[in-house]
Amino acid sequence: MKFDVFSLIPQVFAGYLGCSILNKAIENGLISVDVHDIRDWAEGKHHITDEPPYGGGGGMVMKPDPVFAAVESVVGTPPECPVILLTPQGRIFTQQDAQKFAEYPRLALICGRYEGFDERIREHLVTDEISIGDYVLTGGELPALILIDAISRNLNGVLGDPDGAFDDSHASYLLEYPHYTRPPEFRGWTVPEVLLSGNHAKINEWRRQQSLLRTAQRRPDLLKKAELSVKDLKFLREQGFDTGETENPR
Ligand code: ADE
Repeated sequence: MKFDVFSLIPQVFAGYLGCSILNKAIENGLISVDVHDIRDWAEGKHHITDEPPYGGGGGMVMKPDPVFAAVESVVGTPPECPVILLTPQGRIFTQQDAQKFAEYPRLALICGRYEGFDERIREHLVTDEISIGDYVLTGGELPALILIDAISRNLNGVLGDPDGAFDDSHASYLLEYPHYTRPPEFRGWTVPEVLLSGNHAKINEWRRQQSLLRTAQRRPDLLKKAELSVKDLKFLREQGFDTGETENPR
């Protein structure tokens, strides 16, 4: 899968992409990330990419012409792939988006800086507007890296464990169960007996229950979307949770 990233500070990407799982994915040819400097498409001696807003007010606005020129010259006119604008005004990115975007062979990601984008970029160039959360960052570079990371780990071969992304918290609208590793006792805190029992049916049952409990306690909004069996619902009711509003009963 190919990512084309458009940014005014392209140098920030190399560090993160040069390490660990994503670096391995790049070396193994599973993903490629080309980072393009929008300034290269800005005309004039000073390569200006931002101007004050028409109508006055604070801050600077990203000019449309360099952004259109950059994106269209790299991914075509009209663009051949989804063109995603990273913006706090977009819809909130979820694991389900990460899985959907992972089905495309190519994605373009536009990172904003300054106060915002000229509206014509939103209206006539981008296909999706994505936010990574309800807070405002100084630019879209970290959000772009977050998308690249979350999307890539859904691609075959990127994670060592082929089921790794399938078991994730959020993949099925349930948070993951607690994990433990050696030593079995640390500062007097012990690992739950069942995990040491070798009984895999029991371990799976415990993990499912922990996952249900954790989601019910921390993210009841997610639990409403999860596919829950009759057994799951019974367990939650026994634990004192209201299961009346489940959207996807099995
Ligand atoms: N740019 C600035 N803040 C952002 C956010 N929360 N999500 C995506 N892009 C952004």
